[in-house]
Amino acid sequence: MGFILAAIGSAVGLGNIWRFPFQTSANGGAAFLVVYLLAVLLIGIPVLLAEFVIGRRANTSAIGAFRKLGRPGWWFVGAVGVIAAFWTLSYYSVIGGWVIRYIGGSITGGALAAPESYFGAISVGLPSVGTHAIFMLITIGIVALGIEDGIELATKVMVPAVVVMLVGLAAFAATLPGASEGYAFFLNPNLDTIIANAGTVLPAAFGQAFFSLSVGFSVMITYASYLGKNDSLPVDGVTIGISNTIIGVLAGLVVLPLLFAQGVEPGSGGPGAVFVAIPTALAELPGGGLVGQAVGVVFFGVILIAALSSAISLLEVVVAYLVDNYGFSRLPTAAGIGAAIFLLGIPSAWETAWLDWFDGIGVTLLLPITVLFVVLFVGWVLGQDAIDELTDGSGIGSLAPIWLWGIRTFILAVVVIVVAINLWDLLATPDTGYYIVPGPLR
Ligand code: TRP
Repeated sequence: MGFILAAIGSAVGLGNIWRFPFQTSANGGAAFLVVYLLAVLLIGIPVLLAEFVIGRRANTSAIGAFRKLGRPGWWFVGAVGVIAAFWTLSYYSVIGGWVIRYIGGSITGGALAAPESYFGAISVGLPSVGTHAIFMLITIGIVALGIEDGIELATKVMVPAVVVMLVGLAAFAATLPGASEGYAFFLNPNLDTIIANAGTVLPAAFGQAFFSLSVGFSVMITYASYLGKNDSLPVDGVTIGISNTIIGVLAGLVVLPLLFAQGVEPGSGGPGAVFVAIPTALAELPGGGLVGQAVGVVFFGVILIAALSSAISLLEVVVAYLVDNYGFSRLPTAAGIGAAIFLLGIPSAWETAWLDWFDGIGVTLLLPITVLFVVLFVGWVLGQDAIDELTDGSGIGSLAPIWLWGIRTFILAVVVIVVAINLWDLLATPDTGYYIVPGPLR
């Protein structure tokens, strides 16, 4: 039980509620949704299982796991994952800080009164650096104290609360004029659009799938090292993959109809989409301002728990590595690493274009590259051992070879294509490729 809660806590977070809706909106709506769902089912969940296999078999955190199971040279895969976690947390914490700010803004009503200018004011400069610091301090505190029980309890409350809040808001959004265009945009895929935009939709959807499942960050490897031989990896992987996806899609069913009802052009919301759409809707809730403010406090409170349970796992990987391998003590390590991550996040807090840039590098470059190495490692280094490990405790005997075959061929090929498209964007199209210099700062 402990493992699955921790893993769901890691997977369900800002990726579902903040990132998924605005990525969907920016990448053509239903076309993105279809590719995303395929990416989760055909690639994401099998890769999640691959990380479980590595973690449980090695029984140690990520860098050590690759060293122990493979040829020693593979340790770098774990290291790239740890770097990706470090990198991601730097801007994840900035958004977590905005969530904290929105709890305050719901209490005072400021966030609901003028959502757009409120977001503009709190998402950049010193206010944003300040809330980034607060979010990071809370994360450091929890990791330093090592209060895993608290995380499990928080996840137990958070997941049902997120679902209830999202279903409620989705029902409200459905009543608004203009919502139906949102559904058409989100739920009615057009094959031609997908094919015409494959070059952008594919990397975006795969990046989102990996990010949201927390694969490629060495996190799931580390968590799976605590698993026993009797746990069923496939059952756990499918449970995590499906519940995580449902929460993302639910967030889409809230935010996209809201954006359309509020007349926001698809794709123009950017990282602020959720932070403007939700308060605008809250202000219109029946019953007047106080109801909206109360719902806002609960909604952003729940999102904060979701963000923290993910952030904790990101910091935990980095700290666990240093504590396990160098015998550092926990509190100063968490504080030191947390401080370094805070510094790295300052540009993202200062200016949204930097946040976009950090997110671009992390999700479209670091992440698919680690995933590629994980796939190569499990498919071609572990090989038969991976089948044994996946089968232990699961009773899925005959499916395991199919999974390994997929990892070795189809999944490997798709991930290579995704990495190739991303590298092409990076190297061959410096004008439009968005990684080398943040677009608006160019
Ligand atoms: N999956 C988390 C979310 O959807 C975010 C995340 C990305 C994450 N990578 C991670 C969490 C690594 C923990 C570890 O919000």
